[in-house]
Amino acid sequence: MWYQTKASEILGIKYPVLQGPFGGNLSSVALVSTISNAGGLGGYGAYTLSPQEIIQIDRQIKAATNKPYNINLWVSDTDAANGEVSDEQYKIAQQLFKPYFDEAGIALPEKPPPFKSQFENQVEVILHQKPPVFSFMFGIPSADILEQCQRLGIVTVGAATTLDEAIALESAGVDMIIASGFEAGGHRPSFLASAESSTIGTFVLVQLIKEKVKTPVIAAGGIANGRGVAAALLLGADAAQIGTAFLATDESNATAMHREMLFSEASKYTSLSRAFTGRLGRGITSRIAKDLFNQEKGFLPFPLQRQFMSPLNAAANEQKKWDMILFWGGQISPILKHKKAGELMKSIVEETTSYFDNLKV
Ligand SMILES: Cc1cc2nc3c(=O)[nH]c(=O)nc-3n(C[C@H](O)[C@H](O)[C@H](O)COP(=O)(O)O)c2cc1C
Repeated sequence: MWYQTKASEILGIKYPVLQGPFGGNLSSVALVSTISNAGGLGGYGAYTLSPQEIIQIDRQIKAATNKPYNINLWVSDTDAANGEVSDEQYKIAQQLFKPYFDEAGIALPEKPPPFKSQFENQVEVILHQKPPVFSFMFGIPSADILEQCQRLGIVTVGAATTLDEAIALESAGVDMIIASGFEAGGHRPSFLASAESSTIGTFVLVQLIKEKVKTPVIAAGGIANGRGVAAALLLGADAAQIGTAFLATDESNATAMHREMLFSEASKYTSLSRAFTGRLGRGITSRIAKDLFNQEKGFLPFPLQRQFMSPLNAAANEQKKWDMILFWGGQISPILKHKKAGELMKSIVEETTSYFDNLKV
């Protein structure tokens, strides 16, 4: 059967279909448990959460499903040297973004205190709570952390945007590699070269990695239905990870407007921008991303740019100034159909089965 792959075996799931984790408070326990209970692998993006919050989420997921699930962190969670920027750099960002804060009628934020990386403390919680699967992006955890995961029976999954990154993940001994194509919604998780120079499409990346790497590969980016899952598996992927299509369902923690935008005509146009967080990410093209294209020098490094934009995002939401918000989403949005996560999962499984039946493979 098409679903009996190395990935479904290692993950202990029926169908090799992963619901991609969403950072920045867009994941939900309801979405994770719906997909895990349906035989896939639900995923919770936890990189912005405190260790205590991760413990609570993990307990809630364990109460909602007895099937495997995934918790996701960002290995590198800051690009700012010592977590801060100079006053001069902060002033440049304030000047560049002042017109938008003025338009929303809110004050420019004061320079925040230095940001302290949270990863070390967050990963302690992973080792303590032992979710069945720990996935991560923006780097590779230390050999010590990976060894502890192995000893505790936690399956590790790392994201690659290039063949070099996949080779580095394999050398470190991770259990599975996500081939993260540039079609995908959300941040580009590049960690060896710049995200701008690591923009390979999912189906090329899967084939490059399959050629050189033995670790099972999960295709992510631009897959939203059974046709996409079947195509990924035929190209050699051992599983598919689907993000945007699950983000658009009622069970995700996206706002009603965000979900509406993913089903709207506007979703035909997406772009990669650093304007909203400081790291390159894909969302429905917004006015600010368009206006400030090529002005990256004036942006703050991640996550200071994210903190800086947060009051503007809140004000724009309140005032319904939709063109000032980055609605995260991938290039595949215009073909989305399902608003219920369970129905989407069921349809993906049925469609994939019917593609493989017709191919008689
Ligand atoms: C809003 C949003 C947030 C995301 N956050 C994370 C994250 O924190 N960690 C992660 O590994 N992947 C993250 N992703 C990537 C997804 O898990 C998944 O790999 C990707 O969405 C697949 O591509 P698709 O959007 O074309 O389906 C995010 C994607 C989106 C759309």
